[in-house]
Amino acid sequence: MISQEMNDRLTRTGPGSDAGAVMRRYWQPAALSDELAVPRPVVPVRLLGEDLVLFRDDSGALGLIGRACPHRGADLCYGRLEDNGLRCPFHGWHFDRTGQCVEQPGEPEGARMHERIRTASYPVVEKNGIVWAYMGPGDPPPFPDFDCFRAPDSHVFAFKGLWACNWLQAMEVGIDPAHASFLHRFLQDEDPADSYGKQFRDTAGATDIPMTRLLRDYPRPDITVEDTDYGLRLIALRHLDDGRTHVRVTNQIFPQAISIPMSREMIITQWHVPIDDERCYWYSMFTSFTGPVDKQKMRDQRLREHRLPDYAPLRNSANGYGFDPVEQARETYTGMGLDINVHDQWAVESPGPIFDRTREHLGKTDVAIIRYRRMLRAAMDAVTAGTETDLPMRGGAAQAAAIRGPISNDTIAASGGDWHAAYTAGDAERRAACTDWDASIATAAKTG
Ligand code: FES
Ligand SMILES: [Fe+2]
Repeated sequence: MISQEMNDRLTRTGPGSDAGAVMRRYWQPAALSDELAVPRPVVPVRLLGEDLVLFRDDSGALGLIGRACPHRGADLCYGRLEDNGLRCPFHGWHFDRTGQCVEQPGEPEGARMHERIRTASYPVVEKNGIVWAYMGPGDPPPFPDFDCFRAPDSHVFAFKGLWACNWLQAMEVGIDPAHASFLHRFLQDEDPADSYGKQFRDTAGATDIPMTRLLRDYPRPDITVEDTDYGLRLIALRHLDDGRTHVRVTNQIFPQAISIPMSREMIITQWHVPIDDERCYWYSMFTSFTGPVDKQKMRDQRLREHRLPDYAPLRNSANGYGFDPVEQARETYTGMGLDINVHDQWAVESPGPIFDRTREHLGKTDVAIIRYRRMLRAAMDAVTAGTETDLPMRGGAAQAAAIRGPISNDTIAASGGDWHAAYTAGDAERRAACTDWDASIATAAKTG
């Protein structure tokens, strides 16, 4: 457990907050590219407690500017998308994508007041289905050479979902390898052939053991946490009765992402992005090492569970997450259906919008959570002290280019075998078989 003061420091992300200052030193997912694929590409964005509007201008370039008109505060999300910018419908002030006011049509002819009017604006780039924003000082850092950024757009599917809780609760479920044996337990095994686009439904490693059975039968993982250039590597070992060991490698990517295996074909890289302190979006990039991703199928699967335009889940606290006691007795551990996202959503929302961590009791399996909070505290201290190059991945282009992977996979190590060698070999095999794009990480073995 931690003090109330520390809980506030770790969880608050609005302007002027310490954790928010750390997040502002990294590119943040602001919207899905899908959200802009409409006739009028103007989307409200609330990010790190700031209200913004994202739009694509006539030249095709993206702008992310303050949502309130600097004149008298009207909502620019209702702006007229015209003349290569956004025009406020109240008095016609016109803004370009840098936030500069370029015209005030109601002011006297020749007035130059507009030259002094500039609203907030942040750099944005689009990468593999996500629009990223940089809200910090100075130049944005380069993107690390992670698989989700190296793979071509055809091999990456991006989606998001709304959770009604603080981002740190969402982050912490992703670095908790023990919960998969309980929260996501299926009392029956599905046919792994029907596993496309779903997590924990494939077989484990190169075996015919369904992941569902393995997680159910071996609920006490040995968890090791290692420091890396990008954050933390988590290794969860499940020792099987026949002497073999199941090795699951997942990662924390600083400051608020995880990278985990989904199936033998795909990995998931997922950001937990504060909308404000009591709501967050998960943004996932599903990256395929085999063929192109079936985006239509994956989108349809997820749209059945979410409402547009805000990507709010249809199962939520207002309807008890669809809880069914008969299902809980017979089919799933939660009684909340087969979509593991709903299980995670219940786990992170039910402690309350900002969990009171003065009341928690962390166990041995929470080791990565403890290590992560320590890392975040060090980063907040570094930003406060002005030593920002101490932050993970803020060391420049060469450093970012050297950060590859990270390895996220499930492997089975032979009886008496070296589990480190087993997961490294399992990952190398998958990368070697990836001929559609260059997934090699040979030059970055240290960090992968
Ligand atoms: S409030 Fe926007 S132009 Fe007046
Ligand atoms: Fe989970």
